[in-house]
Amino acid sequence: MLFGLSLYFDLLLGLVTLIISVVLYLRYNMSYWERHGIPYIKPNLLLGNFDELLIKRVPTGLFGQNMYERGAGHPMVGIWALQTPSLLIRDPDLIKNILVKDFNYFCDRYSGGDGDFDPVGRKNLFMTNNPHWKTLRTHFSPIFTGNKLRNVYQIMMEISDGLTDYYKEKCGQDGATFELKDLYTRSSIEVISSCMFGIKANSIRDPDCTIVENANKLINNQIKRLLEITIYFMVPQLIDIFRVQLAGSTTNFFRNLCWDSIKQREKNGIKRGDVVDCLLKIRNESKFEDDMIVAQTFIFFAAGFETSGTTTSFCIHYLAAYPEIQERAREEAMAIKEKYGSFTYESLSEAKYIESIIQETLRLYPPMPILNRICVKDYKVPDMDFVIKKGTPIFVGIMGMHKDPEYFPEPEKFDPDRFSDERKADIKPQTYMPFGEGPRICIGMRFAMLSIKLSLCSFLTNFRAERCAETQFPVKLVLGTLTMMPENGLNVKVVPLTSCK
Ligand code: HEM
Repeated sequence: MLFGLSLYFDLLLGLVTLIISVVLYLRYNMSYWERHGIPYIKPNLLLGNFDELLIKRVPTGLFGQNMYERGAGHPMVGIWALQTPSLLIRDPDLIKNILVKDFNYFCDRYSGGDGDFDPVGRKNLFMTNNPHWKTLRTHFSPIFTGNKLRNVYQIMMEISDGLTDYYKEKCGQDGATFELKDLYTRSSIEVISSCMFGIKANSIRDPDCTIVENANKLINNQIKRLLEITIYFMVPQLIDIFRVQLAGSTTNFFRNLCWDSIKQREKNGIKRGDVVDCLLKIRNESKFEDDMIVAQTFIFFAAGFETSGTTTSFCIHYLAAYPEIQERAREEAMAIKEKYGSFTYESLSEAKYIESIIQETLRLYPPMPILNRICVKDYKVPDMDFVIKKGTPIFVGIMGMHKDPEYFPEPEKFDPDRFSDERKADIKPQTYMPFGEGPRICIGMRFAMLSIKLSLCSFLTNFRAERCAETQFPVKLVLGTLTMMPENGLNVKVVPLTSCK
């Protein structure tokens, strides 16, 4: 009996000692930034500052904005990604050093992390790190030169005309209500699959086609999917533990899409200078494994369709809310159409006001609201007695800067003229970065701007967007998302101009 009691006592003592040691360790770890003299945002003992993302399910953009605002007055603030001490950089000059000038110290991404599990999710141009990143970026950059964009522009125009016909059929004389987020996501899918892969998806007319079905699996707002994406981007330490796949259940769909497109291209021997041609070249010239080729197919599709679709739909949603801005944009589009007969590639460079509408929409709703990097070698911060240690995750909260009244007065106001020729010089560099910055800036930026501009010009010269009973303003975002997902879609009434008085 005595022996039994003493065993229980020993076990209890052991347990208490273990708990105390763990708590002491956690508290020590959470004092990291205090010990290094860096201001920090008070963390949760277990989840660091990411309890907001994982438990409270604050949308990632808002999370970045909260951290940014709480760090007011400091060039950077310490936070914890779970137990990993990380930095949120606030000062535009320091951001420039990290993203551009001293890129060599910060060339890799934190998201995706290291590890061999899920090569399709981890080894694509977006997630992968050096030396693979540089090889891939060099191969894919030529797809996005002015000449190549001019080549695919004809395809963009055909898709845009197809969308206009679709609207006309559905609108009738009196107009009809459309949910824009879904419609422009489908339209972007068509643009990307046709321009990048040479595949006609028919996604505008057929919402149930395989490619849309798979795209929807990537961006649905079920908790499991939202958590998977948050883990991938914000807490990649958990990818291997929970065996998270970025492409989730669509992985095999992308494998088939990749190899079918490559086989088809090899068979017909046609060169289009698109993603598929690049994939062929990479496969033949480099020693990349099969899934690394699939990974590129996946990312050009995944990084492009939701970002562009969401932006276009938010733009039209804003136009419905601000009729005078819509009218001014329409006058510009009409004048260009009259001058050139149609929206040619060159003519779109004259759509300055429409471009500023897109820029202002991206300021308020940047589809990727937080940038991240990881420090790859110890970095002495200029003008500070502080060294960022190798392995430290770095975050830049774009949304926080876009909503900072110091940089954008009356930040909640939708004011496209902030980006007018007269006023855009007032925007401080590195405070507006919806496409990121430096060598890892969005590779599809010009492609995206071109296709969104064309969509808006086509829309404005054929239809008027109006508020309707289903229009929600301001928009409520789905909780727990990385991107900007409107909770109830973006609904507006679309009326043919021929019916407008
Ligand atoms: C409105 C549309 C879009 C927005 C706002 C957007 C935004 C971004 C942002 C913020 C990044 C990270 C940049 C950084 O870390 O500095 C990025 C990277 C990337 N984007 Fe986009 N994007 C858009 C459209 C597209 C399109 C259409 C494509 C492809 C056709 C694309 C492909 C990529 C790729 C591959 C990367 C990774 C680049 C690298 O790490 O080298 N994006 N994008």
